[in-house]
Amino acid sequence: MSPDDAFQSALGLVAKEDFEGALALFIQVNQAAPGNPSVIGMMGKTCLKAGRHAEGVGILREALRLKPHADYVFDIFLGLAQMKAYEDTVALCRDYAHLIDGDTRFLPFLGMAQIYIGQYQEAFVTLSLAREALPEDFSIRHNLSSALLSLQRREEAVECYSEMLADWDGAEEVRMSIERLDGIAVGYDQNELHNWFSNRLLGLYQDNFPGRPMRRVLELGTGTGLLGSRLPASASLVTGIERSVAMVAQARERKIYDTLIEGDLPGVLHTVEGPFETILSSGVLYYFADLGPFFTQASRLLTPGGAFLFSVDPLSDPREVAVTGPGEYAHSRAYLRRLAAENGFKEVAIEIDLHRGPPGFWCAFRKG
Ligand SMILES: C[S@@+](CC[C@H](N)C(=O)[O-])C[C@H]1O[C@@H](n2cnc3c(N)ncnc32)[C@H](O)[C@@H]1O
Repeated sequence: MSPDDAFQSALGLVAKEDFEGALALFIQVNQAAPGNPSVIGMMGKTCLKAGRHAEGVGILREALRLKPHADYVFDIFLGLAQMKAYEDTVALCRDYAHLIDGDTRFLPFLGMAQIYIGQYQEAFVTLSLAREALPEDFSIRHNLSSALLSLQRREEAVECYSEMLADWDGAEEVRMSIERLDGIAVGYDQNELHNWFSNRLLGLYQDNFPGRPMRRVLELGTGTGLLGSRLPASASLVTGIERSVAMVAQARERKIYDTLIEGDLPGVLHTVEGPFETILSSGVLYYFADLGPFFTQASRLLTPGGAFLFSVDPLSDPREVAVTGPGEYAHSRAYLRRLAAENGFKEVAIEIDLHRGPPGFWCAFRKG
């Protein structure tokens, strides 16, 4: 078979997703007529398709050396993205800026890579360009919001996050299934962000209620019990509520909850008997559109002066509730303040800080 015929056959095998067969032919073609960037480029791309990312990137770098072209840079970029090689991705775009300048294909992932390696100002610039190019893309705004937060531009981060969210129209709330929640339980404690939720909420408590004993605590959405396991000794009696069977099982193993209720919020709150001095909920209330029942029940269950602390996904005022995804919602400060006033709570603090990647509102209210 001539090298040309072998090359065409190899392309046919790629189309049929026989990547290993195609690679064997590309190698033959390259041996017969070495140094052809098109052949080497196809070989590299096929390696990527076969899941041999590091090898593919190496081969594509050779094609790029032979024929500098933005498409080869992009193929290498995709390979590095698959490998989550953020440093290398940023270096590639810097080294070949002269070839890819103005090519918007690179912007979304480059911006994310820059966040991962702590280049927040660069990420802000990249993702701002990406937002201009792809104004409807939610993930770009999500990452731009994270970059703004890392730059301490907190209000802008909230604004950026809110912009793409559609208002909740009052339709029946979508509830995440127990099976999906159980899925989150796997490896939950090993995730840095999951550990952040409870640490951040406890920090909020210590900063805003210094020296106040927690006493009887009600925790909404315990997860595996990370927050419960970090409560101060002043938490004398701890009740937890959690919907996921797998989460409850892990929380129970920790032996920190005096009472652990496997139930569906907010309805199950009607069955709970107080009183409590403190109600805590870290990284949970974004699962609910209507937070009215939570404030009403917190008001019923808390003693005068009781503390109600929680986090939510953020939304800009004067809007009230928006949808961030199926079964996930964002809430504005105007909304939280309205519910607080209607239910006899005073605002102690609403801080903007990292929530689920982008910012959230970390909220502390006092009853009465
Ligand atoms: C992101 S985790 C946070 C867990 C814990 N608060 C922490 O800080 O680690 C959210 C938790 O809310 C629970 N959850 C979600 N919807 C719920 C519902 N309707 N009723 C009770 N728990 C729910 C989930 O099962 C999950 O454990």
